[in-house]
Amino acid sequence: MSALAELEARALGEIRGATDLAELKRVEQAFLGKKGELTQQLKQLSSLPKEERPAFGKAVNDCKVSLTKALEARERELKAEELSARLSSEGFDPTEPGSPVPYGTLHPITQITEELVDVFQGLGFSWLDGPEVEFEYYNFDALGIPGDHPARESHDTFWLRDGNVLRTHTSPVQIRAMERFGAPLSVIVPGRCFRNETVDASHEHTFYQMEGLMVGRDISVPHLIYTMKTCLREILRRDIEVRLRPGYFPFVEPGFELDVNCPFCEGEGCKVCKQSGWIEMLPCGMVHPDVLRSGGLDPEEWTGFAFGLGLQRLVMVRYGINDIRDFTGGDLRFLKQFNRI
Ligand code: DAH
Repeated sequence: MSALAELEARALGEIRGATDLAELKRVEQAFLGKKGELTQQLKQLSSLPKEERPAFGKAVNDCKVSLTKALEARERELKAEELSARLSSEGFDPTEPGSPVPYGTLHPITQITEELVDVFQGLGFSWLDGPEVEFEYYNFDALGIPGDHPARESHDTFWLRDGNVLRTHTSPVQIRAMERFGAPLSVIVPGRCFRNETVDASHEHTFYQMEGLMVGRDISVPHLIYTMKTCLREILRRDIEVRLRPGYFPFVEPGFELDVNCPFCEGEGCKVCKQSGWIEMLPCGMVHPDVLRSGGLDPEEWTGFAFGLGLQRLVMVRYGINDIRDFTGGDLRFLKQFNRI
């Protein structure tokens, strides 16, 4: 056995035999340190005949690599041993199953938004966004709500100092969509809206709507009814009946209130539907010719329908929730009931 091989075997034995990190450090110094045995070997290099030097140099280097690897492996082992010794002395058992980490759930409004987007994308609608701080023009004027119109009052708007508003509905995105994409057009716009409301069980200053707009050639009321029925059947998870009553909104003509048959009494009449057998679901209508014009479209050529779905209301009807404040109240007992992640 060459001196080098003997040195390597001895060093490996000492490395394996080291019982703690301090001892391992000493072994490292003894062989690889400045005055270590292997380092000394290297110093012999210059005294060797020239032709033997490369082979000897390589052998020393191989030995160094092998010792370094063994040192690292032993260090890992000793560290792991030290850790488990320390943990078990502290009464910690690493083989015990961990305790579950609490995780959050999607808010019911997020869940219903995702479901609606899914249904409407299946019907060929595109998902669009709009600004929450809106120009007065888009929020009111372009939708046929002039300065002195009572609808502006009823919207209880948050006005900003610069004359802009926190949008009171998602309808302004109708105009933005027509301006930007022209016709034909099918879009949905879920989003947050704001009104200066006194908060009670059915009113919130911050709420969520989803606007829908379809513009094309010969779009008429049956398209509206079909679309709403398809969507509500999916979301309310039952076969539904709808009915239209006249409703007034300046940006639709004719305008409707769309009702669905009451899920609680099957149309018999109960407390929830105030004995009528119907529940008011959403306002909608045929897009007013002036609104098409505001969007840059010719009402002789294009027609369309629009609707504004209140998302809290939809969730409330689906789950029988009776207080709108629960959505933003931050009560985990409420939120945890919608435990989809
Ligand atoms: N933007 C209306 C509101 O928030 C709701 C609405 C009514 C939207 C009729 C529509 C519609 O698109 O056709 O009060």
